[in-house]
Amino acid sequence: MKNEKLIRQIVLGFKPYQGEISPEELAKQLGVSKEDILPLHANENLFIEKEWILEKIREAISTLDLRSYPDPETVETREAIAEHFALESSEIVLGNGSDEVLDILTKVFIEPGNETIILEPTFGIYRFFTLLLNGKPQTVLLNEDFSPNVEAVLKSVTPRTRIIFLCSPNNPTGNQYPKEGIKRIIEESGCIVAVDEAYADFADYTLLKWINDYENLIVLRSFSKSFGIAGLRIGFAATNSELADIIRKTVVPYNVNKLAQKMVVVLIDSWDYLYKKILEVKEEREFLYNQLNKNENLKAYPSQANFLLLRVVKPHYTAKSLQNKLLSKGILVRDRSDLPLLNNCLRITLGPRKINQRLLDSIKEAFSEEP
Ligand SMILES: Cc1ncc(COP(=O)(O)O)c(C=O)c1O
Repeated sequence: MKNEKLIRQIVLGFKPYQGEISPEELAKQLGVSKEDILPLHANENLFIEKEWILEKIREAISTLDLRSYPDPETVETREAIAEHFALESSEIVLGNGSDEVLDILTKVFIEPGNETIILEPTFGIYRFFTLLLNGKPQTVLLNEDFSPNVEAVLKSVTPRTRIIFLCSPNNPTGNQYPKEGIKRIIEESGCIVAVDEAYADFADYTLLKWINDYENLIVLRSFSKSFGIAGLRIGFAATNSELADIIRKTVVPYNVNKLAQKMVVVLIDSWDYLYKKILEVKEEREFLYNQLNKNENLKAYPSQANFLLLRVVKPHYTAKSLQNKLLSKGILVRDRSDLPLLNNCLRITLGPRKINQRLLDSIKEAFSEEP
């Protein structure tokens, strides 16, 4: 291969990220319009009206001069976030999606050979960024009920451990971790504990306030889920000001574009609407969970996020066959069977009632057909 000697070994060995087929591609394959496809594979927000977001974009963009660079200090946005989440703006580091914040964090803490602890099954990006820096991800399996095995996590800590990633609510299992266990890990590990709260607005609690109590705690939040702007790419980390100052020093200049920064300010101003949508997500979660569990071929797990994890328990039937059946009906869901503990599991994003009803009808139909 050209340039092989020049490319880092770890990069040469990387397998490309394998997502599901895109809604556009599926629409093309099925010969239908993109509007007929249900994108239930990426945990996006399907409750917020597309038109409502566009209206807010128009409002935000009308105040901007896009010929000039964004504010590198991101002052206005951090102040709005600080007020909304009851933080100090000095405690916030913004990123181009919380994905970028995770990239930044690993760069701050991981030297080659350092370790991170990752509670599997979980979001794949913690492993990806650790490996990219020649770090060594150490896996600790969740318990059968998907709660963290706190003893095992603490036992896995070595002098080389730098970050313990806790995703709570966890993607893809949906459960929020008990506070007591997280507290023990923060207090006893001696490592940076990064709690990824991308879905916390749909859950019972947030640990944002704990950043005042623990200097090794970093909480990550995303605007892609409860705020519905996955396409704009913005998220943040919250931690004590001293550490936030250090992390901010490493951020690429202008990493968050002007429109994303302004939209967060505008959306925080419209929180009443977004909050109503969060309540709708929770109602639909209850509805879909109950309906799915009425189907003897399935087991749905309780969720604190905007998606449900579903296990196919019909004998001689796999999650893959159900996924393929749904695909043929224009419904995209994520097969998570490749992850530990998740044999025959699909992850399904919640939608408003009409969408959930079409999903339920399609699942019923799928099970009545040959696998
Ligand atoms: C647990 C978790 N963290 C972070 C992200 C990335 O979010 P963002 O869109 O803010 O980069 C996701 C996206 O699905 C996620 O599931």
